[in-house]
Amino acid sequence: VAVAQVPQEIAKFLKVATPTEWLDCAVSRLDELLHDHANCELKAASTAMAIIYRYPARTQLVDRMSRLAREELRHFEQVRKILADDAVPFTQMTASRYAGKLHRQVRSNEPDRLLDTLLIGAIIEARSCERFALLVPRLPKPIASFYAGLLASEARHFQHYLELAESESGLSSEKVQMRLNDLLDIDAALVTSTDSQFRFHSGVPAAA
Ligand SMILES: [Fe+2]
Ligand SMILES: [Fe+2]
Repeated sequence: VAVAQVPQEIAKFLKVATPTEWLDCAVSRLDELLHDHANCELKAASTAMAIIYRYPARTQLVDRMSRLAREELRHFEQVRKILADDAVPFTQMTASRYAGKLHRQVRSNEPDRLLDTLLIGAIIEARSCERFALLVPRLPKPIASFYAGLLASEARHFQHYLELAESESGLSSEKVQMRLNDLLDIDAALVTSTDSQFRFHSGVPAAA
């Protein structure tokens, strides 16, 4: 059995752990999990590219996001390969409640818009990292080892988004922390409440 642990900084960052009900469901719906996971990697790449388009003059941000987009696309290719090896056809899945609800929190004025975008990036990376770690001991070996490998990169992405939120927004760390606290409450509510859909970032599965 492959072993992985939720990195300490991520366990401390998130307000709640993923409920066991979600983990049980994920193990029994592995094809859907992988499918939505592939979509999440693609979405992560396109979010990073959207940031480049929106803030082309911010060199450090653009460099980081460009590298991030490439890495997420690489993850996308890897998940697709696993699906293809199992002869699972790849289809587009409807967006999850989780990312939609978080992205709707982005305010329209700057620098709040940039701050919110980067903080939400940090939260999604942290939640993904936590779920990979919790899934590793429960999944079949090839997928478990793949997920154990993804852990480290998502933990690094989390750190990058968090650092950029402070350095690029130019806001005080108190202001950043206050906003982060509100957004983390939303993540916690989404993860612990009943969700009619099953997705990589869904809440407690509704009784079948
Ligand atoms: Fe990724
Ligand atoms: Fe990532």
